[in-house]
Amino acid sequence: MSDQLPRFNGVERVLHWTTATLVLIAAFTGMTLYMGPLSGLIGRRILVKDIHVISGLAMPVPLLLSYAGRWRDSVRPDVRRLARWTKADRFWLRTLGRTGPHQVGKFNAGQKANSAFIVGMIPVMVATGSVMRWFEPFPLSWRTGATFAHDWTAIAVWIIVAGHILVATSKPPALRSIITGRIDAAWAHAHHPLWVEGEDEVGNEPHQDRTTSAPVAVATTGSEDPTR
Ligand code: HEM
Repeated sequence: MSDQLPRFNGVERVLHWTTATLVLIAAFTGMTLYMGPLSGLIGRRILVKDIHVISGLAMPVPLLLSYAGRWRDSVRPDVRRLARWTKADRFWLRTLGRTGPHQVGKFNAGQKANSAFIVGMIPVMVATGSVMRWFEPFPLSWRTGATFAHDWTAIAVWIIVAGHILVATSKPPALRSIITGRIDAAWAHAHHPLWVEGEDEVGNEPHQDRTTSAPVAVATTGSEDPTR
C-alpha cells in the first residue's frame, strides 16, 4: 500500500458529512417544492416541506457545534487555511484554474471558494426561508424579496453542489481523504506541495495537532504564506 499522510481529523470529517447530508436533503426537497412535475411524482407536499424546513434550519448546527468547546481547536487551523486567500489563489480564480500546482497549500482555490459559498449561503437560506415559513409579520414586499433571493440562491446551490460532487468523484485520493482522514502521499506532494512542505501553517498557533497540520516541516516563524 502507498504511503499515507494524515489530512482530516474525525471532527472535520463529521462536520463535512453532516453538513453535506443536511445541504443535500434541503437541496433535494427544495427542488421537489420548486418543480411541479417532480412534486407531482413524489407527492406528500406538506411532509416534504417539513423535512425541507427542518433540514434547512439544521444546516448551521454542525458548524456551530464544531466551534463549541473542545472541538474548536480541531477545526480552527483548517478553517483559517480555507479563509486565507493567496495571490496564487486569486490568480487561479481570475484565470479559471491556470495556476500551477506548486502554488497550492492544503486547499486549492476551488475548495476555498466552495467552502466560502457554503458558509455564506447558509445564513441567506435560513433568513429567507424563515421569512417564507413564518411570513405573517412581514409585508408583502419582504415575502416576495425573500422568495426571490431563496430561489436564486437555491439555483446557485444546485449548480455548485453538483460541481463539487463531480470534481470530488473525479479525484479519488482527495475524496478518500475526507472519508478516511488520510491522503496518498504522492498525490499530496503533487497537488498540495506547500502543505506537505510545511509552508501552509496557520498563524502563530501551537503545532500540537498533527492530524490537522502539515505532516512534515513546521514553519517556526509561523505565519506568512510565501505565495502572498
Ligand atoms: C440548501 C438550502 C436550501 C435550498 C437549496 C432551498 C431551496 C428551496 C426551493 C427551491 C424552494 C421552492 C421555492 C418556490 O417554490 O419558489 C424552497 C421553498 C421553501 N424553503 Fe427552502 N431551501 C433551502 C433552505 C431552506 C431553509 C434553511 C429554510 C428555513 C426555514 C427554508 C424554508 C423554505 C420554505 C418555508 C419554503 C416554501 C415552501 C412552500 O411553501 O412551498 N429553506 N426552498
